[in-house]
Amino acid sequence: MDIISIAIDGPAGAGKSTIAKRIAKVKNILYIDTGAMYRAITLKLLENKIDPDDKEKVELVLEDTKIQFLNGNIYLDEVNVNEEIRSPKINENVSKVAALPSVRNALVKLQRKIAENTDVIMDGRDIGTRVLPYAKFKFFLTASIEERAKRRYIELREKGYDKSYEDVVSEIVKRDKMDTERELDPLKMADDAILVDTTGKNIDEVIKMIIGHIED
Ligand code: DC
Repeated sequence: MDIISIAIDGPAGAGKSTIAKRIAKVKNILYIDTGAMYRAITLKLLENKIDPDDKEKVELVLEDTKIQFLNGNIYLDEVNVNEEIRSPKINENVSKVAALPSVRNALVKLQRKIAENTDVIMDGRDIGTRVLPYAKFKFFLTASIEERAKRRYIELREKGYDKSYEDVVSEIVKRDKMDTERELDPLKMADDAILVDTTGKNIDEVIKMIIGHIED
């Protein structure tokens, strides 16, 4: 039987991870959150006070870093970093780190390796265009800026972070700009992806629609 690969791309707050996680459960396949991998590298650089512009040091860190997904948790050098990677500090710095060619090359390689022998649903920005261009199923999830900011705002509040809605909006606008305008693998819908606008839709509706396409 062929390996199943499902690519879910889209901007921050479009609902990718919530939806991909649920689909992974329904289809009993592995879920890989590639954004979490960029976040984990960002955390390591910040913890070690390494300037992302210092190419040599960044490369040394990449050679000496282990990222794993175990039971839905992300481990950085054997430590569960699920919570740390969602902090405002990481949100502010991750786009810059994710634009570095050395970081992208290392993580894309790892992502492809994971998908080589396993059925997988992977979410990110470049899964359908670069990581798994041959994926059988590709979806591009989006939503209005207001709705995406509202979701992020609620998520941050629930985690106890004190940020105003206005700050979350401007951060999302800034992150969208960096992710879509960067030179290497920018956020872009693959020509053969299905566009799913989640504005005003609840999770169940979106999941039903995506599963409908997969099982067609
Ligand atoms: O989906 P997220 O917010 O956790 O992603 C964090 C950052 O990582 C985001 O600014 C874009 C970047 N990213 C990327 O460049 N490529 C991916 N495949 C996934 C995320």
